[in-house]
Amino acid sequence: MILLDSIDIARKGETVSKKKAPRNKTIDISIEEGQSYLDKCIRLDQPSDMDHLLDKTIIGDLFEAAPHIPEKSIDLIIADPPYNLTKAFHGNGFSKRSKDQYEAYTRKWLEQVLPLLKDNGSIYVCCDWETSLTIGNVLMEITKVKNRITWQREKGRGAKANWKNGLEDIWYATISNNYTFNLEDVKIRKKVIAPYRVDGKPKDWVESETGNYRDTCPSNFWSDITIPFWSMPENTAHPTQKSEKLIAKMILASSNPGDVVFDPFLGSGTTSVVAKKLGRHYLGVEENPLYCLWTEKRLEMAEEDPTIQGYVDGVFWERNSLSEQKTTTNQHQEKADLSDPCQLEIGAFEED
Ligand SMILES: C[S@@+](CC[C@H](N)C(=O)[O-])C[C@H]1O[C@@H](n2cnc3c(N)ncnc32)[C@H](O)[C@@H]1O
Repeated sequence: MILLDSIDIARKGETVSKKKAPRNKTIDISIEEGQSYLDKCIRLDQPSDMDHLLDKTIIGDLFEAAPHIPEKSIDLIIADPPYNLTKAFHGNGFSKRSKDQYEAYTRKWLEQVLPLLKDNGSIYVCCDWETSLTIGNVLMEITKVKNRITWQREKGRGAKANWKNGLEDIWYATISNNYTFNLEDVKIRKKVIAPYRVDGKPKDWVESETGNYRDTCPSNFWSDITIPFWSMPENTAHPTQKSEKLIAKMILASSNPGDVVFDPFLGSGTTSVVAKKLGRHYLGVEENPLYCLWTEKRLEMAEEDPTIQGYVDGVFWERNSLSEQKTTTNQHQEKADLSDPCQLEIGAFEED
């Protein structure tokens, strides 16, 4: 049994049941509820085989746990490390350090996790613009960097004497040139404003009551994803939780059903939850027991509700398109392939 040593942590974070607004779906499990979820987690202080680790949440320090995970056992790593900011994580914290110190920290954790990847594995690393400069350089040295994705993060306070920070970077890298990339699984359904016709018939798009749509190839600029809001069932009180839709893109593109997805900084469990919803195995490490508890709660909820907000019928939808998703999905299913061949993207069709 893992004892709930997070009671003080929880109190500091004021997560112990407070009265919430009726539409507030934030997960903030009470201490009493928490123990049964914590019992599902494991600690890892000796070498272990993958059978024992599959679909588990490891409570503890990444630097202590990672050496006990078998090498070349992971297909995909999604890492969302603490950015180089002073940030409180419900009792734990991260303090801003010099650029050199942050670079040393980045090298240290990457050296722990990269050997866990299979030869055809991939890694995504999330960062803010400033941390990106360091993480990108380190990755360039020790991996094959394939791309830098910029996510237009639609939330955050305005700065008084600077531009509001509205983006995050996600570095995408592989170990070799033999890697998984499932382009067809990450297309975005977009409204077509000036559609192209051949012989009077729609070319690679469909007409529907709510408009004309085409499934487009995703670029390295992601503008269709919000951070989790309190009205969303996936929301927890974690201060830097990523949204399921964001993580789903990485998992669908860079792993196959049955593969193993690993998150070394699991937080509230988003990577494990999405991996489970998409039929992948998962493993994550998180040092804060309270976050491990929320992870297990979310994993349980995923059994009841495996949906991912914004990802419906095998395509990603733009923001604020819920009503369109309901009305157009069936019409799309009735049509033959409406996906565009990606090489025709440039100039062949006009859209937003
Ligand atoms: C940026 S957050 C990850 C958030 C996560 N992507 C989510 O959706 O909730 C980073 C997390 O790493 C955890 N962490 C930091 N250092 C760690 C370490 N050495 N070992 C394990 N977890 C660590 C923090 O507690 C924090 O929850």
